[in-house]
Amino acid sequence: MTYDRTTIWLHWVTAFLVVTLWGLAQIIDFWPQGGSGRVNVRSLHVLLGMVLIVVMTLRVIWRHSGGRRLPPAEGGMLGLLAKLIHAVLYVALAVALVAGVANTWVRGDSFFGLFKLVSFAPGDRATRLLIGSVHELATNAILVVAGFHAAAALFHHFVQRDGVLRRMVPGG
Ligand code: HEM
Ligand code: HEM
Repeated sequence: MTYDRTTIWLHWVTAFLVVTLWGLAQIIDFWPQGGSGRVNVRSLHVLLGMVLIVVMTLRVIWRHSGGRRLPPAEGGMLGLLAKLIHAVLYVALAVALVAGVANTWVRGDSFFGLFKLVSFAPGDRATRLLIGSVHELATNAILVVAGFHAAAALFHHFVQRDGVLRRMVPGG
């Protein structure tokens, strides 16, 4: 049995957005400070980040309403480990998204040059650095844990040759 189409769609949009957001964040520094290029790339990061907030909200609502939930593919400790990894991913995503919003807000950045957010702690460098670090730490944790999670799914598919990966593929 596979997950339903909505769950599958939401899973892959999440994965795509996380990787894109992380990649975008890495290239922000390529543009000179104060220039419009840098403002635009950062704004795109914030815009896609807000899309991910909507996607994750829908995902959690759907999971607790009509979404199909499947039992762990494996019994025993491995099943528990898979559940734990999924829970860590949800928590790390929540922390990263909340810290992302706080980061935008504390920095008081311009959004595509259209308007500027008013910082909630202007001139408070320590708070700004702390929020930036929490955001960075949570996003890096997602990447590492999701990498392990993806490797496990690929191991199931190509080595154990079972149907775990197909549970998350349309028509699988
Ligand atoms: C899971 C989703 C996200 C990922 C993977 C991600 C990733 C990152 C990374 C790796 C950085 C660079 C950290 C550093 O070097 O200081 C960053 C910076 C930032 N992120 Fe995110 N982020 C996500 C979501 C968000 C959201 C939802 C927002 C706001 C709505 C946001 C706003 C920002 C801002 C304002 C910066 C600072 C950019 C700069 O240094 O110029 N992020 N993000
Ligand atoms: C940033 C990337 C990713 C994130 C944040 C992520 C997150 C998650 C989460 C939270 C679940 C649990 C679903 C639930 O029960 O509510 C899940 C399930 C799953 N994911 Fe991912 N995922 C990512 C990338 C991937 C990749 C690249 C693959 C495949 C190579 C993959 C394959 C799967 C599979 C097969 C399941 C179902 C596992 C099962 O039924 O036991 N995921 N993912």
